[in-house]
Amino acid sequence: MTSQLDSLRKHSLVVADTGDIEAVARWKPQDATTNPSLLLTSAQDPRFRHLVDAALAEVRRSAPGDMAAAMDGLFVHFGREILKHVAGRVSTEVDARLSFDTPGSIGRAQRLIDLYERHGVGRDRVLIKLASTWEGVRAATQLEREGIHCNMTLLFSFAQAVACAEGGVTLISPFVGRIYDWHRAARKVDDIPIDDDPGVQSVTRIYAYYKKHGYKTQVMGASFRKTEQILALAGCDLLTIAPDLLEKLAKTPETVERRLSMDLAYKAGGEKLAMDEKTFRWMHNEDQMATDKLAEGIRRFDADARKLEGLIISLCAAVPAK
Ligand code: E4P
Repeated sequence: MTSQLDSLRKHSLVVADTGDIEAVARWKPQDATTNPSLLLTSAQDPRFRHLVDAALAEVRRSAPGDMAAAMDGLFVHFGREILKHVAGRVSTEVDARLSFDTPGSIGRAQRLIDLYERHGVGRDRVLIKLASTWEGVRAATQLEREGIHCNMTLLFSFAQAVACAEGGVTLISPFVGRIYDWHRAARKVDDIPIDDDPGVQSVTRIYAYYKKHGYKTQVMGASFRKTEQILALAGCDLLTIAPDLLEKLAKTPETVERRLSMDLAYKAGGEKLAMDEKTFRWMHNEDQMATDKLAEGIRRFDADARKLEGLIISLCAAVPAK
């Protein structure tokens, strides 16, 4: 009998959510996504130490002493390695400290793309991840005009989703699991049944809205805590899934039914909203979960990026430049 994973692949494009190159090689997804926390984990893993050393050696030659360049170099090095195992695209995230800086985000995204292109990786194989702040969406809109495709991350509210679609971005990553985490903590419960899962409901609403109103922006459900959440979103354009959950899906024999479809979109897509900066800020601020989670998400990615910088400093001190 077919596995849940093989069956799911008939409805949605399955993406691997990891910085673990061996896991990417094993699961052979179409695309892969990374973030600073995932790359911190991989950079600390002895299996990938040679990649960290190679990335740092490169940066020491091209931009000695430049920490931002070292971080970008490391992210791109892992991205290039991941691309050896996927036919599609890798997502590489812009420094979270630029989350409220449109020109700064544009500059860093252009530099990441430039680094990829210098190594023969075309921009069609990279998605630049930016936080779904107002400033991040403006940066993405400009980057898309330059042919740099964006994956809008840390997406928790409907306002963020509408702004991204209006901004013409390639793809959004609504964070199912972190929405679920917030509601579980707020309700003081260990679990929320799948039929009442606010993360799943959020992605379902966004998908229906996008499809009903003909937006080209694709929806990639992300940040999953359990396979039920993934299966409840079968039919979503893309789903990015961590290796442990890919494993569970692969080991469970079951035919998965499509849950998100154009039929649902026409029934549940709702009326079209007009979106400008004031509306965005008001609507997003009205959603306590989304304001908490966006702020916390930026802080967490920044904290992990700083840990990664600490690791780079200690490695450079241990192996002085020749
Ligand atoms: C992927 O793009 C996201 O960064 C990832 O799914 C976040 O997952 P987490 O909430 O488990 O950290």
